[in-house]
Amino acid sequence: MATHKLLLLPGDGIGPEVMHEVEKIVEWFRKRGVGFETETDLVGGTAYDAHGAAISEQAMERAQDADAVLFGAVGGPKWDGVPYAVRPEAGLLRLRKDLGLFANLRPAICYPALADASSLKREVVEGLDIMIVRELTGGVYFGEPKEIVTLEDGSQRAVDTQLYTTKEVERITRVAFDLAKKRRNKVSSAEKSNVMKTGVFWRQVVTRIHKAEFSDVELEHVLADNCAMQLVRNPKQFDVIVTDNLFGDILSDIAAMLTGSLGMLPSASLGAEDPKTGSRKALYEPVHGSAPDIAGKGLANPIAMIGSFGMALRYSFGLLEEADRLDDAIARVLASGTRTKDIAGPGMNAVGTKELGDAIIKELDARS
Ligand code: NAD
Ligand code: IPM
Ligand code: MN
Repeated sequence: MATHKLLLLPGDGIGPEVMHEVEKIVEWFRKRGVGFETETDLVGGTAYDAHGAAISEQAMERAQDADAVLFGAVGGPKWDGVPYAVRPEAGLLRLRKDLGLFANLRPAICYPALADASSLKREVVEGLDIMIVRELTGGVYFGEPKEIVTLEDGSQRAVDTQLYTTKEVERITRVAFDLAKKRRNKVSSAEKSNVMKTGVFWRQVVTRIHKAEFSDVELEHVLADNCAMQLVRNPKQFDVIVTDNLFGDILSDIAAMLTGSLGMLPSASLGAEDPKTGSRKALYEPVHGSAPDIAGKGLANPIAMIGSFGMALRYSFGLLEEADRLDDAIARVLASGTRTKDIAGPGMNAVGTKELGDAIIKELDARS
């Protein structure tokens, strides 16, 4: 039996709370013969408290060695004052960069039972299924220089650098087109080519790759601000949206609300395929953060984290039946009206994080 090595990095705030529910599901599959081996380590503020760094060298080595990393969330007010280089978020950024996780897949699916949980009208979101493909290791997140400089007169200047290379845009474009071919065959590429040189460049590269390799897929270019507006006006016009690191961060939080809650959106961060083994580095993380306002209260919605594990089953391990079974269990729990507070409708009884995790296990049991 193949053994899949998972590294769990629960992190801060609600991270450990939602990760705990995933551990129950990993155990459920393990008992039924799926070979998972797990290790757990620190990341974020909790790693800073223990080691003075947002991730230790040991945790980095374990991440390099794992078949997949499951990541909870990092950050929180406790660490607001720590030096920039060791702030909790730096642990996540290092993982993405050092593991080469350039492709971040953020699917936004509106479960039928949740069409009324969105802040938008039912008819706008019902049946929604879009995939945001966010470039994750380039752009303004990593471009140099990135600094605050003190000038001669004592005033200061701050700079971040938006930088993309041909190779970076080409590879994320190919990921988007490949996905679109298995979906509804349409890619919307979002940038600001009306203002930014990197936007003009992005559009040129996407157009070239489309023409040369994917001319059978529909391509549209959309300015990122318009894309944000269209996502709340008529989101179902989109299939795959490909965009840069910063726009992808913002557009995916908008897309989250179309599904009912930020607590619903999973993601997969993938590296390049190794041509010899066919395997790729991967980290699976919910789109949401550590939610300091609800941390420690047992209120967090664990579905984004559990859905991220579902994506690991699909993308890292090819366990498609298991992934479908998990998605199905989530859909049935939602249909039954068992919901955490963020997605419970008026007059509905909300359950806590653990109860929602238990309900998913019960549905897994019911169909096994
Ligand atoms: P956030 O995503 O943590 O929270 C935004 C809002 O959504 C809050 O009201 C929160 O209660 C709610 N929310 C988020 N996840 C939820 C869930 N699973 N269930 C129910 N409600 C949920 O964003 P923020 O408040 O801007 O950031 C808090 C901290 O998290 C910051 O330090 C930020 O840097 C960090 N952050 C980390 C990640 C990550 O680790 N991947 C992602 C985003 C933000
Ligand atoms: C996300 C988060 C991260 C990002 C932070 C925590 C570094 O907001 O994954 O969406 O900006 O990429
Ligand atoms: Mn974000």
